[in-house]
Amino acid sequence: MPDLFDQLAFGPLTLSNRIIMAPMTRSRADDHGAPGELMAEYYGQRASAGLIISEATFISPEAKGYSRTPGLHDSAQISGWRAVTSAVHAKGGRIFAQLYHTGRVSVPAFQPGGALPVAPSAIAAKGKNFTDGGPVDFVVPRALEADEIPAIAAQFGAAAKNALEAGFDGVELHAASGYLVHQFLDASINRRTDRYGASVANRLRFALEAIDSMISAAGAVRVGIKISPRIKFNDAADPDAEAVYPALARELSARGIAYLHGGRQAGYDVHAHVRPAFKGAYFAGSGYDAMTAAALLAAGGADAIVFGKPFIANPDFPRRLRSGLALAADDPKTHYSKGPAGYTDYPEAI
Ligand SMILES: Cc1cc2nc3c(=O)[nH]c(=O)nc-3n(C[C@H](O)[C@H](O)[C@H](O)COP(=O)(O)O)c2cc1C
Repeated sequence: MPDLFDQLAFGPLTLSNRIIMAPMTRSRADDHGAPGELMAEYYGQRASAGLIISEATFISPEAKGYSRTPGLHDSAQISGWRAVTSAVHAKGGRIFAQLYHTGRVSVPAFQPGGALPVAPSAIAAKGKNFTDGGPVDFVVPRALEADEIPAIAAQFGAAAKNALEAGFDGVELHAASGYLVHQFLDASINRRTDRYGASVANRLRFALEAIDSMISAAGAVRVGIKISPRIKFNDAADPDAEAVYPALARELSARGIAYLHGGRQAGYDVHAHVRPAFKGAYFAGSGYDAMTAAALLAAGGADAIVFGKPFIANPDFPRRLRSGLALAADDPKTHYSKGPAGYTDYPEAI
């Protein structure tokens, strides 16, 4: 059985180990969503991960939902990301871009012309969006017309094409955490009665159109997906997760995408219920440490383990795991702040 330090062959790539850096929003891009040198330094410092999955990256101006997050829909963003992917590749690393649309959890402050954000249905999420100016209540979004939806799916493909142009090794569809793709999957959020709602097959339609568009741009072997059934975030609920997620996994499996990235949520076991329906690589994430990760790999429960917070304060996290070195703790106050503090200034172990 593999351990964390074994290589992993998947598609055209060979990962140097099975320790994957989770997608983590860090809010260090410029106000137009272009990464700068600081982001290149940060990701380059973490290139010893078998694979880095980038922070969530918006696919269009309307998809943006947070300050200083990066995009992948224009040339300045593409060239900013090119410096990031070059820094990672120069150190032998691999990096995928996580693509998202925030849907109803964006707020007018981030929308072109101060418009309402869009969603499957006109139902506000409970809770708040965190802007630089402080917390802001979620708004009642504008329900998308059915004929607008294919164009948004196509924007996922356009962003995937841009990602390859920027040097990424592949792309991940962010179908988790209560963002737009998840909003379509979740029956408590999607109350549509047209071809994008009501039945499970209809609620899968937007996710699959987005995936198909990404596959057309990048090839199935360079496409992955992240899901988080029943996550308690952004007012997601997934009342019929048992029906939705195995069906989604079967559809994705038939398309031959590279990987499924799932977490452990209270109330739903992705490893047990979804993985058996998916034949590609399975990446397990959320709350793992050296012991639990090694145990899951050794038991054949996953092909690789995704680690989030440990990578924030430990740029050399794989080496620390391998050598049993102490781990530094991250400072949540700097997760979404500006500049190098709590970002690029965590040292490697001596
Ligand atoms: C600061 C921060 C930002 C995050 N941003 C994202 C994101 O952009 N996309 C995403 O899918 N998950 C995001 N997550 C969730 C992580 O990918 C991961 O699922 C979570 O941290 C649990 O894994 P861990 O226990 O190893 O940290 C974020 C987590 C943190 C701590």
